[in-house]
Amino acid sequence: MKMTRGFLTGLTVIGLLTTSATLRSTADKDGKALFNENKCSNCHSIASVGIKGLRPEGGAKPNDLSNTGGKFKAPWIEKWLMKEETLNNKKHMRKFKGTPEELHTLATWLETLKEKK
Ligand code: HEC
Repeated sequence: MKMTRGFLTGLTVIGLLTTSATLRSTADKDGKALFNENKCSNCHSIASVGIKGLRPEGGAKPNDLSNTGGKFKAPWIEKWLMKEETLNNKKHMRKFKGTPEELHTLATWLETLKEKK
């Protein structure tokens, strides 16, 4: 009986550790990885970090995002990616599908992209 309880407690501890490890690995993904994973590069390039869009000629106004931080702040980018903000009276073509945490990481990373003048 005593052993069983110890065993169960052990299992619970392992379960908790596994869960936090999984959460941590999601949080550890950097902005660049999220950018590629969310297929942003289908439409956008970021020449300054070596990301080449799959179809740079596609879309109404394909953008290289190398200077995103020179134009926008992270909170705006988050809203833009959730289609809660407009640019030239238009919303973004794609709504972000990841978690709020991933959105934050991605937007924060995009804000760091500034073209040197
Ligand atoms: C289906 C094509 C497509 C995909 C996929 C896409 N975008 Fe866009 N995005 C656009 C278009 C088109 C614009 C230009 C809108 C405009 O200027 O009116 C734009 C504009 C932007 C802008 C503003 C750029 C500027 O300087 O004006 C940012 C930032 C941006 N996208 C980020 C992202 C991110 C991050 C992702 C991935 C989560 C993504 N986009 C996925 C088509 C796309």
